[in-house]
Amino acid sequence: MKYPKEYLDEIKTRLKVSNVVSKYVQLKKRGKEFVGLSPFKNEKTPSFTVNDDKGFFHCFSTSEHGNIFDFLMKTQNLKFSEAVKTLALQAGMRPYTFSKADEDREKAWKEYTGIYSEYVNFFHNELLNNPDFKNSLDYLKNRKLTLDTIKNFKLGYVKKDLNLFNSLEKKFGKKSVKECGIFYFDEKKNIYVDRFRDRIIFPINTISSLPIAIGGRITQKNSFYAKYINSPETQFFKKGNNLYNIDRARKLSNKLDQIFLVEGYMDVIGLNNHGVENCVASLGTALTERQISILNQFFNEIVICFDGDESGYKAAVRAAENSIKELKPEKQISFLFLPNGEDPDTFISKNGKETFIKYYETNKIAIHEFLFENLRKQTINSPTSLAIFEKKLRYISSCIKDQYIKKYILDFFLGKISALTPNLSKGKQFAIKHIASLSSTKQIFNETSSITKEELQEFSILYLIINNFNFFKKNVSILDGMDFITIEGGNIFLKLLELLKFKDEVNTNRLPIETSKLVKINKFASVKHISKNIQRDENKLKEIFNEMKKDLKNLFLEKRISQLESVFSKNMDENTFNEIKELKKLQNNN
Ligand code: UTP
Ligand code: MN
Repeated sequence: MKYPKEYLDEIKTRLKVSNVVSKYVQLKKRGKEFVGLSPFKNEKTPSFTVNDDKGFFHCFSTSEHGNIFDFLMKTQNLKFSEAVKTLALQAGMRPYTFSKADEDREKAWKEYTGIYSEYVNFFHNELLNNPDFKNSLDYLKNRKLTLDTIKNFKLGYVKKDLNLFNSLEKKFGKKSVKECGIFYFDEKKNIYVDRFRDRIIFPINTISSLPIAIGGRITQKNSFYAKYINSPETQFFKKGNNLYNIDRARKLSNKLDQIFLVEGYMDVIGLNNHGVENCVASLGTALTERQISILNQFFNEIVICFDGDESGYKAAVRAAENSIKELKPEKQISFLFLPNGEDPDTFISKNGKETFIKYYETNKIAIHEFLFENLRKQTINSPTSLAIFEKKLRYISSCIKDQYIKKYILDFFLGKISALTPNLSKGKQFAIKHIASLSSTKQIFNETSSITKEELQEFSILYLIINNFNFFKKNVSILDGMDFITIEGGNIFLKLLELLKFKDEVNTNRLPIETSKLVKINKFASVKHISKNIQRDENKLKEIFNEMKKDLKNLFLEKRISQLESVFSKNMDENTFNEIKELKKLQNNN
């Protein structure tokens, strides 16, 4: 009986490998790893390492390798289920009891992967051995695929009139075959039809090489049928949780730092065919958090290399915006843009592996540089455009989850902006003032290590309210649901809110707020140089205010989460853990 993946993952999330191992082996920190004497061998110099980032231990003298469950099984002679029980307890979780539903799911999973394996193997063998399939094999050979490549990827061809529905049904039952997504029901003819008929098929595997979905390509140009189709999502296949070729690529992670992320099946296969095997494809969706975390688990650098056309560029922007949030110390995300009209497959087929690698080395661009350049291209030398440019960059950095990376990237953006604006602003009176305020903002930003980023954000929000009193009076509902983090900021906000709601005439030069506080707000509100330019544009003002409100909410959630995480690391309490999970959900939705 198999434990649900979520349950095992939760244990792994709660327990670091070093915590588990250090109960049995004395560990010393060395760089990002821990080292100690091998529990598998009598030794004097440590050859046993633990990497919390990757979630693995590795013993260099015996080649033993694995996660926390393996560790207990191997060193304490436990069965898998015993290891799970022990570690669940240690993680403060309830022991898992298998229900009828679990048994059903387990059975359905076996049937599901059984069906896909049988289907994939059958048509792979047909493609290789059946003379009827010669045209399809020729198609692949014309695309210069070697026989090894075809075998490595278990490519197949589904013959038009060879429907496996009935034979699969006999073996696996009708329900499972209906639900696996390979066949759809044709109501007119009242039969199940193979959706991949007359297509080259590309099996999509789990990380442990079980096929769970398929992509299919037509071999002749045809405007009636889509060039590629994929299995629909099923209870066992979610596009955003999978990557094409991850099972083969991950095996290279001990040799190579980079993983190339490309758009298509044929890009992965073309790269492999020329000896670049560290590549995966996302499955026609925007890059997800889950996919990034899978890749980060194995590789230090994700190189996003989409097609050299407009849609590839757009997809790259989307991928950058999504993935910068997940950036972690010691991990990199870069982009590689190919010459116009090329995709990774055509590029490597024309130029070969060495040129491809050289091209990567000279042309890759780090994620934050790409995002900067991309936004800069859309910015003109007008006050609003520049204000929005800076605002967007600040927003991008505010979304980064890791505190160190966030700080570094914000610094990078601010530095680039102030280096850039003198050139943009030659001869323009307004823009010169704008640079002055930008660089002084930056200076203030650097000087004020004593002021927290929560305070800075609150000052900006309060500044906007004070300086646009009439606007907020008309739109007081925009202030609903504000979460101030500091007591001081919260008190000032409440006073302002009362004035907005209950006083008809307010002299903003004589607010009932301590002068020293108003001075601080005026000095540190980084929004002030933008504010002047947007005052006359209420829509802009609303847009910027709402973004700032969102930023503050994020800071609020972040702070609460980090408080709870430190509580949790001490008491491992179930309620705390659930609250953290809830807050993270809110954070993702914000
Ligand atoms: P491309 O159209 O870029 O295909 O689609 P390609 O990789 O260059 O393939 P070849 O060289 O023409 O054979 C890239 C990916 O987008 C999805 C598929 O996942 C494909 O691999 N796609 C494309 C679809 O899902 N449906 C389509 O009709 C086209
Ligand atoms: Mn292609």
